Amino acid sequence: MSDTTTPLTQGLQLDERQRAMLAEMGVRLWWPEPEVPAEVKADAPARPAVAAPARAAAPAPATAPLPRAAPSERPAPPAPRTVPVVPLGDGALTDLDWPALQDHMKACTACPLSQGRCNVVPGVGDAQRPDWLVVGEAPGEQEDRQGEPFVGAAGQLLDKMLLAMGLARGERVYITNVIKCRPPHNRNPEPAEVAQCAPFLQRQIELLQPRIVLAVGRFAAQSVLALAGVDEATRGQPLGKLRGQVFRLPTAQGSVPVVVSYHPAYLLRSPAEKGKAWADLCLAMAQLDRPA
Ligand code: URA
Repeated sequence: MSDTTTPLTQGLQLDERQRAMLAEMGVRLWWPEPEVPAEVKADAPARPAVAAPARAAAPAPATAPLPRAAPSERPAPPAPRTVPVVPLGDGALTDLDWPALQDHMKACTACPLSQGRCNVVPGVGDAQRPDWLVVGEAPGEQEDRQGEPFVGAAGQLLDKMLLAMGLARGERVYITNVIKCRPPHNRNPEPAEVAQCAPFLQRQIELLQPRIVLAVGRFAAQSVLALAGVDEATRGQPLGKLRGQVFRLPTAQGSVPVVVSYHPAYLLRSPAEKGKAWADLCLAMAQLDRPA
């Protein structure tokens, strides 16, 4: 039986740096609700399932309620957006190895985004079978200038999230976006742009063979879930319904778990949601310990 008087931080074996990063993220430690089964139906009610972090001891089961944001603190739900069905099995890129894929992306002029870019932003990090693949939406201004994803304010928060998980940019994690060129004025990518870029992400996943994919933000979630063959109605749900569960992306080797969570830029605007994002990261970390 768990002890309801147990201090909230007891049992979590996070080191000082991870605790500091959680504090920086604005996340207070809490006990999780009971874990949602790994293969939750997509239409199940979303809840903040938290599983034991792969690199931290499992916390005791929940008996105390999770601290939740007061209704007045909750941001209004984002307006529903959909992205197109991403073409699958295109085959056009399946012959490309990693260097050829980089060259291909950097030379791409297949859509108008190529005309306004300073740099193509293919991705950054550990490209040698990383444990993690983090997928965001599209480069912003800083990313376009530097040719590296997530280098602005949202990227700094992403780095803190990674550090809280015992990861660092470039170590065991590769970071990329669905779209490799900056949309003008950071507008949402057009369906045709997503369709054009999706095979790049698909080939990156095939070559990287990550152990888990973390899709941050609704746009990345919809695109990765499309690659995973999740039907349009399911993946078109609000992010709050997609998070807290584990999807599977079929690969040549079997399948890889996919967890979706909030985009760091959204978390900067809605800090009250950081606890849910941490719950998603814990759910994702727990998948690394599971057999495929
Ligand atoms: N937002 C993203 O989704 N990707 C980036 O690279 C930067 C900001």
